[in-house]
Amino acid sequence: MNISHSGQQVMLAGWVQRIRKLSGMIFIDLRDRYGVTQLVFTEAGNDVLYREAGKLGREFVVRAEGTVCERSSKNAKIATGEIEIAVERLTILNSAVTPPFTIEDETDGGDDLRMKYRYLDLRRNAVRNNLELRHRMAQEIRRYLDGERFLEVETPVLIKSTPEGARDFVVPSRMNPGMFYALPQSPQTFKQLLMVAGFDRYFQIVKCFRDEDLRADRQPEFTQIDCEMSFVTQEDVLRMFEGLIVHLFRAVKGVSLEQPFRRMTFEEAMNSYGSDKPDLRFDMKIHDLTACAQGSGFSAFDGAAYIGAVCAPACASYTRKQLDELTAFVKRPQIGAQGLVYVKFNEDGSVQSSVDKFFATDRLRAWGEVLQARPGDLILVMSGERRKTLIRLGELRLEMGSRCGLRDKNTFAPLWITDFPLLEWDEESKRFHAMHHPFTSPKPEDVPYFESDPGRIRANAYDCVVNGVELGGGSIRIHDEPLQQTMFRTLGFTPEQAEEQFGFLMNAFRYGAPPHGGIAFGFDRLVSMFAGLDSIRDVIAFPKNNAGRDVMIDSPSSIAGEQLKELGIMINGE
Ligand code: AMO
Repeated sequence: MNISHSGQQVMLAGWVQRIRKLSGMIFIDLRDRYGVTQLVFTEAGNDVLYREAGKLGREFVVRAEGTVCERSSKNAKIATGEIEIAVERLTILNSAVTPPFTIEDETDGGDDLRMKYRYLDLRRNAVRNNLELRHRMAQEIRRYLDGERFLEVETPVLIKSTPEGARDFVVPSRMNPGMFYALPQSPQTFKQLLMVAGFDRYFQIVKCFRDEDLRADRQPEFTQIDCEMSFVTQEDVLRMFEGLIVHLFRAVKGVSLEQPFRRMTFEEAMNSYGSDKPDLRFDMKIHDLTACAQGSGFSAFDGAAYIGAVCAPACASYTRKQLDELTAFVKRPQIGAQGLVYVKFNEDGSVQSSVDKFFATDRLRAWGEVLQARPGDLILVMSGERRKTLIRLGELRLEMGSRCGLRDKNTFAPLWITDFPLLEWDEESKRFHAMHHPFTSPKPEDVPYFESDPGRIRANAYDCVVNGVELGGGSIRIHDEPLQQTMFRTLGFTPEQAEEQFGFLMNAFRYGAPPHGGIAFGFDRLVSMFAGLDSIRDVIAFPKNNAGRDVMIDSPSSIAGEQLKELGIMINGE
């Protein structure tokens, strides 16, 4: 509603957001899904109505009828800021107790309180906007995929364990005592079966469930845009879904992404960025100093398998305190470094370092050359076991990127990571795990390594990464039974175990499985990136907290003894 509606009779219904009383006048901000409109009541105009309005409290639900008028003091900040409604009839539809926090953009409610009263939190603009954005994105996803002839097919939620690497949530079956369903970690096997069934192009915006440790970008139940295609190569899949991401950015955010997306192998990502999801909004690559930083009697370096460094632009002016902060940052248990060496390339041409005692200036300058350091730059060096040190440097790189203001939320740097290792060696269990999942196809040229060196096998697997966030991942699948058997064997399954767990899939493959592959995007992550948020919680209507609890409905909770009995379940210690 705006000034062009002046003089019109209108009827509005909504919630009382704010009440201001002046002498002889009451102003009410009435809020509904579409925004806020000011209602005005004057004692002189209608004192019965004026007294009625005086009874209203925050979050009362009302219906008001009246005339649109031009306001004397306008509010440019809101769409209806030039008008107000001179109310002629008011109906109080419901009263409300005082909400435990203010329903404002900047609320006084803490996280826990807002989650307990999530339905009130959802009344706030910011949260509602996020859900509107989520809806719009879902519409655009369906539009794009429908246009590409993908069929949306629902798959079951009560299934058998899917091996995606996390723990399953399980559901006891009353009708089959002592037996359990598992909730899907993803519809992986079902979408493959749909390909065997000839569906050719499938998608589903689908809930997935994983019992894993939670972080800002992880929820125990989350939503995937799950997709699969038949008769495709990796190239076809990348092109199709690059198209989806480009479409979403254009249609929803008005951002045109440069195409084609950059491609980087897993190996290069790890070596240069210490991460399989590099944030390419800024450069600051990791450089290898192993060859030129040993043999000076500095024990942390001399015994190290790997020495690497990043160069932070214009940070040579860092104070003692700032450098100590960085050292504390890398020593945090989550990162686990022993220490951090710095070299300052000062503006005046001098060089200063925490290892001056061991390295002559010329040697430090040589490091600077490797890292292309310029006057004013700061080099940060770490050493240790190769992979671990690269990952630590990757974390430090992100921290320096943030400190240097190089991670602008409105800049988007998408890329594909390819050539993931097929298998990961797990020291604890002394066996290989599938890096993606056991249905991922090895690169044909690497198949001989199954016999000689399984750790070397590269997969036809790929991730879509934007701004350091893994938005999606997928692979070309194994579609013939003997290769699938080899994979299961390498993963340590006996033929009986493989049959028990995946017999249905292997059996299906015997009936003519097309070559196929696909991908799944984390829909929550995609929406939170579009909303410029760091956590996926605020793009989910009813999220769980970090302990996996829904504090509003108080779940999980214990269940009645009767229910347990019916399910044939006994709780330990009871
Ligand atoms: P993957 O396990 O990589 O692949 O999951 C795909 C994408 O889902 C998102 N994601 C999550 N988002 C929020 N909370 C979580 N706990 C969570 N876990 C994963 C990520 C991730 O990139 N079946 C395969 C896909 C395939 O091969 O086609 C799969 O699920 O954004």
